[in-house]
Amino acid sequence: MIDPAQIVYLNGRFVPLGEASVPVLDRGFIYGDGVYEVVPVYARQSFRLPQHLARLAHSLAGVRMDNPHTDAQWEAIIGDLVARQPYADQAVYFQVTRGVARRDHSFPKGVAPTVFMMANPLPLPTREQVERGVAVVTAADNRWHRCDLKTISLVGNVLLRQLATDAGAAETMLFREGFLTEASASNVLVVSGGTVVVPPKDQHILPGITYDATIEFARAVGVPVVTRPVPQAEALAADELWLSSSTKEVLAITSVDGKPFAGGAPGPVFRKVWESFQRHKPRAR
Ligand SMILES: Cc1ncc(COP(=O)(O)O)c(C=O)c1O
Repeated sequence: MIDPAQIVYLNGRFVPLGEASVPVLDRGFIYGDGVYEVVPVYARQSFRLPQHLARLAHSLAGVRMDNPHTDAQWEAIIGDLVARQPYADQAVYFQVTRGVARRDHSFPKGVAPTVFMMANPLPLPTREQVERGVAVVTAADNRWHRCDLKTISLVGNVLLRQLATDAGAAETMLFREGFLTEASASNVLVVSGGTVVVPPKDQHILPGITYDATIEFARAVGVPVVTRPVPQAEALAADELWLSSSTKEVLAITSVDGKPFAGGAPGPVFRKVWESFQRHKPRAR
């Protein structure tokens, strides 16, 4: 539900959502020419903000845009926005577009970027999703070759996610040329013989902040992790499959393409690492 009274941030001002508007010639609207971030906030404490800001800088550099703020400025704006919301656990969304200009593909000169930020309630997984796992469908990864950039041009991801929604599943797990990449809005981790195997952070996956956190929290409880390309056949025959993202944390996949996967229940390695994740993250309210 859209709450027009929700306070959001637009170009230096905090305004009610119902009053926040952007000209139709914004390059975000015309071309999807911009980048974004989503930072989870637990009990008003952001989780891994420096890592999210580093990824934002990587995305901005990748699309040849200047960063409009220093990390300290981003942190201050986010802190201010978070303090203005009535809920303690939040998902802070922020995006930077190349600004408003006459429509022409080439970069405009001397145009200020558009900066928009909102903080919604953090939609953490339900207890049932944690305990029973979630379903995925599989599809060919037909997105572009710069999936490491978190751009707002998401129509490829949107179409892939809709395949899952159409099938009543949570996510679409993607394969490119016979190898696992990620899912439409999550990373995918594989467990084989007690070891977590993760695809390398190359240009075909988003370098997930939760992917890194999950790897760290797995190692913290003695679970080995290796990084290497994962063939499709190996992923689909794995002992366990997990999804990770800022709003899912880590979730077990228990159904693939309509068939129960790995006994149809979250596995023992998942339970151990999920518990480690819960112990390490800032405490939710
Ligand atoms: C395509 C894609 N991969 C992976 C992720 C997970 O990234 P993070 O853990 O930083 O939320 C996301 C998050 O939205 C995503 O859109």
